[in-house]
Formats: sequence, structure tokens, C-alpha cells
Amino acid sequence: VIDIRKLYGDTDMFTYDPGFTSTASCESGLTYIDGDAGILLHRGYPIDQLAEQSSFMEVAYLLLNGELPSKSEFETFNTHITRHTMVHEQLSTFFRGFRRDAHPMAIMCGVVGALSSFYHDSTDINDPKQREIASHRLIAKMPTIAAMAYKYSVGQPFVYPKNSLSYTENFLNMTYSVPAEEYEIDPIIASAMDKIFILHADHEQNASTSTVRLAGSSGANPFACIAAGIACLWGPAHGGANEAALNMLREIGTPDRIPEFIARAKNKDDPFRLMGFGHRVYKNFDPRAKVLSKAATEVLDKLGINDPVLDTARELEQLALKDQYFIDKKLYPNVDFYSGVILSAIGFPTTMFTVLFALARTVGWVAQWNEMITDPAQKIGRPRQLYTGPTQRDYVPLGER
Ligand code: ACO
Repeated sequence: VIDIRKLYGDTDMFTYDPGFTSTASCESGLTYIDGDAGILLHRGYPIDQLAEQSSFMEVAYLLLNGELPSKSEFETFNTHITRHTMVHEQLSTFFRGFRRDAHPMAIMCGVVGALSSFYHDSTDINDPKQREIASHRLIAKMPTIAAMAYKYSVGQPFVYPKNSLSYTENFLNMTYSVPAEEYEIDPIIASAMDKIFILHADHEQNASTSTVRLAGSSGANPFACIAAGIACLWGPAHGGANEAALNMLREIGTPDRIPEFIARAKNKDDPFRLMGFGHRVYKNFDPRAKVLSKAATEVLDKLGINDPVLDTARELEQLALKDQYFIDKKLYPNVDFYSGVILSAIGFPTTMFTVLFALARTVGWVAQWNEMITDPAQKIGRPRQLYTGPTQRDYVPLGER
């Protein structure tokens, strides 16, 4: 038995909470989640209303500033973001250091972290103006860097930003245009993409956002903090889940094989889990999955794509929702379950899925980082531990061991 008082001083409270399942690390006014009811609000606005009626840039403004913008505020914000879409030309050289077959998330970790070496005039976290410029730069440059990561991986030349296009259209254009032929932007695809960005913009203290806050709590510059968030997001239990979910659906292949995979997910001796199912906070339908389930049908119908993966996903959802194991453990589809189906229909390789998540989540990371920096209660994040190693002992010289 560990004597807490001996180890940690005379304290009345010391919590051991692996995975922070019941510990709040901060106060935040950005995002509210009621996991039992399946409710998600950004600054009070329901996610389904934002996804159906607003735009990603409007949601970005809302998360950063607390209120929806007026028309002129929105125009000014758009102008600020648009002005920063270019990246330093030397960054192109930086890309060439990566192997062609590098995972685009590996490229994102490196390139976004390197931004602080290019933009010295926005790394002073104590200057509100520099914080604002860094925030705009990160949101504006993320699509450019994400598209460059894609272009690099397929061996095509980089496409410069086109500022007459909207944020999302510009991203699609940089991703899919080639010098010989400009990409024709389909409004259905642009709208679905914008919706996916909205649904991924923020999600309170998830692992990557907590990572950004923890990195930022030491006073690290915002570019380094967002790079830390990208690294955390990459994991298959977090942002990598949409890639894993689509791979799993493809592996299942046809609806008749679903029971075999459900049985595997229930078998405690098998590490397999149904990817895109379950959530730390939602013990009900993830409201984002509801929006995406509808969007998946719309996009595939309108594009005339008949992908058996969607049939497999629908059938899997139905069977899992009726299965006692999933009912007892309150495992429902999460945002990652349908997003992969849509992204794949748009034409993205699975390796880009988490990159798109990172692009969208940058808005939340940046908003949360700003909230933390300006919080008077902010201090360096420094969790404690329960020590389980040996008690004190004397060093034995190498020759005597
Ligand atoms: N398939 C089968 N069983 C599952 C699944 C699943 N997808 N998810 C959880 N369980 C089971 C666990 O085995 C565990 O069972 P036990 O109590 O018998 O040991 C129980 O449900 C609780 O699971 P935990 O891992 O303890 O729950 P936690 O809240 O820590 O994990 C997580 C949540 C990581 C999302 C988990 O549900 C999971 O791994 N899901 C698959 C990956 C995924 O879709 N991730 C995306 C999350 S959303 C996002 O990041 C945007």
C-alpha cells in the first residue's frame, strides 16, 4: 500500500485517473458535449444546425471569437485567412527531404512543426497581435500544406492557392488540379467536404486537443503546439480511426461476412475492435455520425457511385445496434464510421483521411490554445504519478555486478 502523504506531501486530495476519464483539465467555453444524450454544441449552437446551415469558415470564426460573425466581420475574417494561404517558397524544398512513400501525417508533423522556423514574427505568445497572426496563419496554411503533402506523395507538382475560391474549394483545387487541367469543382463535393470540416472542427478535451494545451502550457510557440496535436491525432484510436474504419469495411467486403467480424470484436482474446464504433464520451449516437450517415448517401447517390462499402457499413451498423454486447457497452457509430466512405468517394486515398481531420481540427486546436493562453488560471500542465518502481538502493559498480 502506498502512503500518499509520505510520497506527495500533506495533501487531502490526490487522484489516480488513468486516461483522465473523470478529471477536468481546464475550463472552456467552446464546446459542450452531453455524451448520454448525444448532444454536441459549439458556443451553444447544435452541431447539426451548423453542419446543415453554416460554413467551415463561419464555424472557425465562432470558435475563435465566441459569436457568429456579422456580414462585415465575416468578410474581414475571410480576407485575413485568404491573405495567409501561401507558404514560404523555401517550404517546398523542405518537402523534398521526405521519402515519396512517407505517410502524409509524418510529413504534416514535420512541416507544421517547422513553420515556427519560417514565421518568427508570430511566435511571441505574450503578444495578442502575434497570437492572432499565428492563429490565422495556421488555419490558412493547413489546406496548402495538406494539399502539398498529397501532391508530394503522388509525385505531382504543387498547386498554388487560388484566393478567389472559398476555403474548401481552394483546398480541393490545390489537391486535384494538375498543370494540364484545372480541377472542376463539383458543388456537391465542396459542400460535403465543408460539412466534414465543420464536424471535425472541435471536440472539447480529446487527446490531441489536450496535447496541444499541454504543449502550450509550457509556453511553446503555437506552431510547435499544433504539430504536437497532429502527432497525437495520428493514432488509430483517435484521428487514424477513419482510415482504420474504411480499411476494416473493405476487409469485411460483403455484408454476409459481418457476423464473423462482430464475433471477433466481442472475443476478449482477439485484439480486434470494430473501428468507428465506441467513444470515450458518447454513450449514445455520436451526433456527427448522424449527419455523416445522411451525407454519405447524398454524396454517393449524386456522384452515381455504387460502393458496396456503404452497404456493408449500413448493415454492420444495424447488426451491431441489435447486438447485446454493443448495447451493454453503449457502443454506437462515431464520426469516423461514415467519413471514410465519403472521403473515398471524393477520391482521397485512406492515408489522407487523418490529414483532413488535422486540417479541420486545427481550428479547434488554435481556438483552445488561445483560450488557454488568456485564461488567468493557466499554469504549466504537470500531472503527478503513482510510483511503482523499486525503493531506494545503493549503486553497485559495473565490475561487481
Ligand atoms: N469494438 C469492440 N469492443 C469495444 C469497442 C469497439 N470498437 N470499443 C470499446 N469496446 C469495449 C472494450 O473492449 C471494453 O470492454 P471491457 O469493458 O469488456 O474491457 C469496453 O468496450 C470499453 O472500452 P474502452 O477502450 O475502455 O473505452 P474507452 O472510452 O477507453 O475507448 C475508444 C474509447 C478508444 C474510442 C474505443 O471505443 C475504441 O477503441 N474504438 C475504436 C476506435 C475508434 O473508432 N476511434 C475513434 C474515436 S472518435 C475520434 O477520435 C474522432
